[in-house]
Amino acid sequence: MTLDVERIKKDFAILDRRVHGHRLVFLDSAASSQRPQAVTDAMTTYYETTHANVHRGVYTLAEEATARYEGARARIARWVGAGASHEILFAKNVTESLNLVAQSWGRANLRAGDVVLLTEMEHHANLVPWLMLKDQLGIELRYLGVTDDGLLDLSDLEEKVDGVKLVGVTAVSNVLGTINPVRRIADAAHAAGAVVLVDGTQLTPHMATHVHSLGADLYGFTGHKMLGPTGVGVLWGREEILEAMPPFLGGGDMIRDVRLDGFTPNELPWKFEAGTPPIAEVIGLEAAVDYLEGLGLEAVREHERSLTRYALRTLTQRYGDEITIHGPPDADLRSGVMSFLFRDIHPHDLSQVLDQRAVCVRAGHHCAKPLMRRMGVSATARASWYVYNDEGDIDALADALADAADLFS
Ligand SMILES: Cc1ncc(COP(=O)(O)O)c(C=O)c1O
Repeated sequence: MTLDVERIKKDFAILDRRVHGHRLVFLDSAASSQRPQAVTDAMTTYYETTHANVHRGVYTLAEEATARYEGARARIARWVGAGASHEILFAKNVTESLNLVAQSWGRANLRAGDVVLLTEMEHHANLVPWLMLKDQLGIELRYLGVTDDGLLDLSDLEEKVDGVKLVGVTAVSNVLGTINPVRRIADAAHAAGAVVLVDGTQLTPHMATHVHSLGADLYGFTGHKMLGPTGVGVLWGREEILEAMPPFLGGGDMIRDVRLDGFTPNELPWKFEAGTPPIAEVIGLEAAVDYLEGLGLEAVREHERSLTRYALRTLTQRYGDEITIHGPPDADLRSGVMSFLFRDIHPHDLSQVLDQRAVCVRAGHHCAKPLMRRMGVSATARASWYVYNDEGDIDALADALADAADLFS
């Protein structure tokens, strides 16, 4: 159950690139992964042989395009354990999926004074839509805190969940890598009568996703972080919840009838897909699912856990107190995301120095400003690994840090 990284690397042409004379060491997959040839081939073949708009024409090409698009939906539905393919909705990214929940479910179900429980480690995509609703409807927001070890503080979960209408939680932190106990939180939420929204953006690319085992009622993820194309996000929801939600965006495809004095919305899932959907992107995402399934999600998880152990050991042994690694010290509790500070070098400066060795790491607040404040920092450097990374890439990062140490000494 191991990944053959040498073989996998060959599927990613971009990894042959050299930057500043060095081989590319891509350690920023938590921001956006690279994609294998199979994904770009699937999209190109679709455009070259089958493209027409979907759900409209009755000629052969249009029917084939519709069948490809809806076939991909069914494939993605099976992959995350959805009950039916119409429980899968496509948006332009997970940010749009989460805004859909806030604006459609939220406006239909929340009134002034109702409470939504989030966590202090949410990405802005699962925070700002609720802050907007706070301004628009006067709802109240509560937060589960974060411990010094970068875990969710569940000591007051039962108290905080009491009387709440919706609990929104990220399955895996994009800053700390923490894998959250979603099932435990979902059980407490359900016992309190709340709906559970899971931001699965950093989970689905890296481990098997079973929306029901997680206890989710609504679950979002994004294509471009899981070897798929940009421009497509997914929302899964339980049928009865989606049925009861009003449309989010209005336009073509999402209606059954339109009159000058009103409209009748379409059935699921099209009720939530106004306008021409991201057809080629959905087909590319299906190819990414095939690719990941070919590797085996258990092998992917094991590979990342092993690289995380290696990175924690290598960097702490080599740099000791000079490096501060945020998040849980145990690799079993974290995904392949590592936020760190090195000496007193600003993360942006550090990232630029690492770039001279073609080592790509993200620097900044990672769209999680409240979490940064909780950690007492304004920014970190963040390295993240995926199926095409190996120990040599971690060694390259460790060596490049030595350059930074020299430059700033
Ligand atoms: C946990 C989490 N949620 C949401 C997002 C937003 O993803 P997108 O920009 O594809 O909407 C990200 C992206 O970094 C993320 O890491």
